[in-house]
Amino acid sequence: MDKFVIRGGNPLVGTIRVSGAKNSALPCMAAAILTEDEITLENIPQVRDIETERRLLASMGAQVDLGTGSNQHRTTISCRTLSDPVAKYEIVKTMRASSLVLGPLVARAGMARVAMPGGCAIGGRPIDLHIKGLEKMGATIVQEHGYLEARASRLKGAHLAFDKITVTGTEDLLMAAVLADGETVMENCAREPEVSDLAALLIAMGAKIEGAGTSTIRVQGVTSLHGANYRIHPDRIEAGTFLIAGAITRGDLTVADCNTEHLRAVISKLEEAGVRIDVLAPDVVRVRPGERLLAADISTEEYPGFPTDMQAQYMALATQAEGVSLIKENIFENRFMHVQELVRMGANIKVDGRSATVRGPANLSAAAVMCSDLRASASLVLAALVADGESILDRVYHMDRGYERFEAKLQGVGAEIQRMGNVFAPKEKDAVAD
Ligand code: UD1
Repeated sequence: MDKFVIRGGNPLVGTIRVSGAKNSALPCMAAAILTEDEITLENIPQVRDIETERRLLASMGAQVDLGTGSNQHRTTISCRTLSDPVAKYEIVKTMRASSLVLGPLVARAGMARVAMPGGCAIGGRPIDLHIKGLEKMGATIVQEHGYLEARASRLKGAHLAFDKITVTGTEDLLMAAVLADGETVMENCAREPEVSDLAALLIAMGAKIEGAGTSTIRVQGVTSLHGANYRIHPDRIEAGTFLIAGAITRGDLTVADCNTEHLRAVISKLEEAGVRIDVLAPDVVRVRPGERLLAADISTEEYPGFPTDMQAQYMALATQAEGVSLIKENIFENRFMHVQELVRMGANIKVDGRSATVRGPANLSAAAVMCSDLRASASLVLAALVADGESILDRVYHMDRGYERFEAKLQGVGAEIQRMGNVFAPKEKDAVAD
């Protein structure tokens, strides 16, 4: 299993570029199921979850061409024949977002068999809201042998009101609604930019959608969709992670190819903590140290609030800030697995239920630590970048699920970080997150 060896102490200086958003790319790849024509997606990040989704679609009979060389960020998908509309447990267990194929499969093929995702590292993550929505649209769903089987000769438009805001739930049902008979009105939808990204692709494929990016989405179902070429937006979580890398190392880092509009909550929190941020262009932001790094509280919320996917990275920064930061996790019930590893590096953090109190600044000392999920891994890398000495991070395959060439990008701006081990060894083993 690969490890990162990181020697802390270098301020990160230079320009770092953001890849396409993994969480947009995953639903957009699933959207290819909705048409017999070819879908070409640009700016696809080269991360492990994308390879998992390729395997998932290929196992159903789709042709998926992940580009190489100068086309390495282009993916072409053809779902002309879907011989086996099944999402097998072997794949679903390694990536929970596999449930995104449920809606499009029922809409296109009239049936889907999708393995239940099961437990995961950051708390029980049910898909009951996906199921409830499909049932309202007329699907019959049975659950047996660990699989959900959904059938509908043609889904019907419906009025769907989510009990709770869910990102992939909104995306899954949006994909179901575009081919349904009649109008679907979806209320209390996720407003995440990834939902808007998916909707933009679907519209390019001929779907009739209004209101994506707001809490009410209206869809007029059509009978078929056609091929499209679409460019995925930049990854706001990768960009936010780099902003914190610049801030925590007291460097001078320019984060390019990002969408600063999507980073508002993170930028304003960093400013509150005394970090100097200059938005140089709509897609470029520079981060530098202010006079002092000060404690500031966060409370994770759905977009446009502070993202849960940035909570762990922010906590690493909070260990270096003067004062007490209160960190409240409202989205997932068990998302503090990075805490015990940060504490092993010398951080002063107390967890009480869904809240963590961080007292800083702490002198972090290098240690051997274990990555437990995708964003927890990022948090540990950030802590190691300022720790005294050489840290060893184990199980970095979690990181590879969602960050493209993370160590190479950080090396390019002066970090001492090396990968050790066999990059091509089997990686998905235990915890699944994000
Ligand atoms: C997506 C993101 C993930 C991010 C999360 C919250 C992808 C691939 N992943 O995950 O990175 O951390 O949004 O921003 O886009 N819930 C239910 N029933 C459901 C569905 C969800 O109770 O049917 C609950 C979940 O347990 C959780 C909350 O709703 O407490 C939000 O989850 P959700 O928005 O669905 O997260 P994901 O879409 O899985």
